[in-house]
Amino acid sequence: MADKKKILLSGIKSSGRMHIGNYFGALRQFVEMQDDHENYVFVANYHSMTTVRDPKLLEQQTIDIVLDYLAVGLDPKKVNLYLQSDVPEVTELTWIFNCLVTVPYLQRAHSYKDMIAKKKEPNAGLFDYPVLMAADILIQDTDVVPVGRDQKQHIEYARDIAEKFNAAYGEVFKLPEPIILEEVETIKGLDGRKMSKSYGNTIPLFATDDEIKKAVMSIPTDSKAVEEPKDPQECNVFYFHKLFAGDDLEKIEKRYREGGMGYKESKEILIENMTAFIGPLRKNREEFAKDTDHVMNILKDGGNNARVRAKEKLALVRKHSGIIKAN
Ligand code: ADP
Ligand code: TRP
Repeated sequence: MADKKKILLSGIKSSGRMHIGNYFGALRQFVEMQDDHENYVFVANYHSMTTVRDPKLLEQQTIDIVLDYLAVGLDPKKVNLYLQSDVPEVTELTWIFNCLVTVPYLQRAHSYKDMIAKKKEPNAGLFDYPVLMAADILIQDTDVVPVGRDQKQHIEYARDIAEKFNAAYGEVFKLPEPIILEEVETIKGLDGRKMSKSYGNTIPLFATDDEIKKAVMSIPTDSKAVEEPKDPQECNVFYFHKLFAGDDLEKIEKRYREGGMGYKESKEILIENMTAFIGPLRKNREEFAKDTDHVMNILKDGGNNARVRAKEKLALVRKHSGIIKAN
């Protein structure tokens, strides 16, 4: 082998149905980077536990994310796919890190501040969210962490915690770099605001044909007549053409400017292109969902590989920090 590949690690906390904003903003990066890295991608089910109390729902949402990962093209031959809970060394490391960070330091996390703004009594798990995330990252000697923009501060916490540990006990941890596609704009929802589950304006990444139709038909347009020329940049429907039209984009843009194409026709073209994009992803997902044994085996293999590394790192951490082993 030529140069040693860099370690890429990332995870997603399951919190409902994946939408095209999640895909273009975060998930697509994992797929695009998988060939050039040694990859560790997991489902952050312990992080989900900070907000999900229903065991059946937690189980379902955990599997859902795995199916989403596989359906969008993460290749288990290139990526170690695993469940956070299958690497329990991560939670042990979290405890050790907890003894290094201070309460005021954790109180400064945006995610905690947001939660305080929304909830009256956050649980201790929510408070400790960035420390668990630092353990996920640092235990694998991660070089790069591709994430959405909202996770940037969490990666800074991981770097700080690595530095604190190294200063206290000697060089054990690498400092990870975040990879945030600054050029990826925030994907807009059907109503023109940021696409988000909390606004109910999403297009699910694995939408059915009917859901696609309904979503596209609900995009608001102005009242220009069919024959009138239209400014594509001002049209919410055209916004989605930019994501799904591929090589046809120029042609569609020309037809907007020339006039003669109504919004109904524009929406029909969009439905066709979106269906062509989403249809195969949905089929992939359905195929993987049929064979859960296969999916569990993928997770088992990925989890084993991740765990071997985690055990090694944790042994080093214990040695450096004075935690002796009697058996
Ligand atoms: P939501 O806002 O729907 O609750 P999450 O917070 O679960 O989405 O986001 C999961 C990931 O997807 C994050 O990395 C986030 O940066 C990314 N993401 C979410 N919505 C968008 C969007 N509209 N455009 C681009 N990226 C997004
Ligand atoms: N906090 C991330 C999210 O909400 C999930 C996550 C947990 C993560 N641990 C991580 C992401 C480590 C990157 C690296 O989606």
